[in-house]
Amino acid sequence: MPSKVPIAVLISGSGTNLQALLDASHDPGFGCRIVGVVSDRSDAYGLTRARNAGIDTTVVEWADYDDREGFTDAIVEASLGLGAEALVLAGFMRILSPSAIERFPDAILNTHPSLLPLFPGAHAIEDTLAGGASTTGVTVHFVDELVDHGPIIAQEPVVVLPGDDVDALRRRIQEAEHRLYPTVVSAFGRGEIAVRDGTVEWMTDTEEAVL
Ligand code: GAR
Repeated sequence: MPSKVPIAVLISGSGTNLQALLDASHDPGFGCRIVGVVSDRSDAYGLTRARNAGIDTTVVEWADYDDREGFTDAIVEASLGLGAEALVLAGFMRILSPSAIERFPDAILNTHPSLLPLFPGAHAIEDTLAGGASTTGVTVHFVDELVDHGPIIAQEPVVVLPGDDVDALRRRIQEAEHRLYPTVVSAFGRGEIAVRDGTVEWMTDTEEAVL
């Protein structure tokens, strides 16, 4: 079996996407090995999920650094210290400096609860409802220098239902996210996804098979 890509999962909160990745990683065919979880908050529940799964954890508190560069360097060092070759952002609500992208080129993935480029930012679901969109969804993408931006790997639409509030819509978006993100992370680990000239190419027809 080909070797799995070692990944650090970066979180800030509840970690339901981390849990989906942890659960998926039990499958022998999962393309990545979760070598650690890095959080910018010591109270993130995702840290408990990681510890319950026997995964190493590191906390890099935003408040301990003077600026974004210092914080980013600490995140990169922590991830490298865990042996990570790629970063998987799972509800990580801080913006990393370009130095992280230089250190992990085309190897930082993010999931976002909207159909990017619509509704980037920390309040995507609230903004979707306020904007009156009838369809939203999930986007998994490589991270570039901009916020919630970079080559899109996969998207899954989610219909906005009449009467939806933030919690109801988030629940359905996360159901989709918890399927899509592990699928994409696994394919990344198996070397099935590449970026050429800023566009994602799938190396096999796995996209059709699984998405
Ligand atoms: C996820 O839905 C993720 O898409 C979103 O935060 C949530 C974290 O949930 N990320 C962003 O909004 C990034 N801009 P989780 O901690 O339960 O995985």
